[in-house]
Amino acid sequence: AARRPPVRAVSPEVLDEAVRVLRGGGLVAFPTETVYGLGADAANPDAVARVFAAKGRPADHPLIVHVASASAARAWAASFPGAARALADAFWPGPLTLVLPRSDRVPDAVTGGRPTVGLRVPDQPVARALLERFGGGIAAPSANRFGRVSPTTAAHVAADLGGRVDLVVDGGPCAVGVESTIVEVDGDRLAVLRTGAVTAADVAAVTGLPVAASPAGPARAPGMLAAHYAPSARVVLAEAPDAAETVARWVEKGHRVAVLAETLPEGLPPGVVALPPVASARDYARVLYQRLRDVDAAGADVVVAVPPEPAGIGLAVRDRLLRASRSH
Ligand code: TXA
Ligand code: MG
Repeated sequence: AARRPPVRAVSPEVLDEAVRVLRGGGLVAFPTETVYGLGADAANPDAVARVFAAKGRPADHPLIVHVASASAARAWAASFPGAARALADAFWPGPLTLVLPRSDRVPDAVTGGRPTVGLRVPDQPVARALLERFGGGIAAPSANRFGRVSPTTAAHVAADLGGRVDLVVDGGPCAVGVESTIVEVDGDRLAVLRTGAVTAADVAAVTGLPVAASPAGPARAPGMLAAHYAPSARVVLAEAPDAAETVARWVEKGHRVAVLAETLPEGLPPGVVALPPVASARDYARVLYQRLRDVDAAGADVVVAVPPEPAGIGLAVRDRLLRASRSH
């Protein structure tokens, strides 16, 4: 696993090679608009088992099946209720995963034996081209080792998975930067299991139905553990007015402290690692996982993070930071 995987810039030849690897039961990491995925042929249980082995992920944490279009998604679901159709029309291709009753086509290996399957049509040119050429479904979790921060560049994937992946298709950094919103659709009952660029308010507006917010329950979306969002450094949350004081307190205790914020607090003590400020909530989401890796690379053991406003994609950034802050 210390071996580096082949990382290849996307081209028609590389996409053909990726399709060959998938058809042969191998693993291909590829970009989506959210994070890089570690893909396998969703119809091949042995290939899917390799995904769990490469990630070091427990077999009962289900995988999302990625497909090229909403009509392709229908073949993987036993039913596609009106609310799912409305959400697919509004947000596919895009950063939304629908959890629906699974069809017979879905192997047990993908869902950990659950009666439902997560489906997504990604909105990223490389992902779309790969799905179209492959023709089938690609089961893909985020392309990180279990318990690590999601990868948003090909280099993150290579550093994390090494030779456990057969091919990494490099399509540049991910535009959204946080994982897809997961909505469970049970007839007219909707629940957001994970928030992302699409918010619960967006889901309610499009469907006209009430939406249960994430119960944050591992039983609903297994695998949403705090550790998935945490760097090695301890994550400490502070609102803007308290940030400088919080930093000073951790510095006094002898820690090497990094600061992540849209506006860097004034009056920071010397020696603090000032990460490049982020321009907006959208920008915060895009760079969040890169910055968390930067914190570790800078040798900081504490990062004081000032979350963005709790609106739109800022909600997802807050969610990930909150989970990260609880993991120590
Ligand atoms: O943005 C994303 O969703 C990325 C890209 C690659 O598409 N994928 C991703 O996959 O984040 P993963 O495996 O790291 O996270 C998927 C989450 C897990 O928490 C899993 O438990 C949940 O989705 N999930 C998948 N299928 C499910 C199902 N049938 N019922 C409930 N939760 C499900
Ligand atoms: Mg993940």
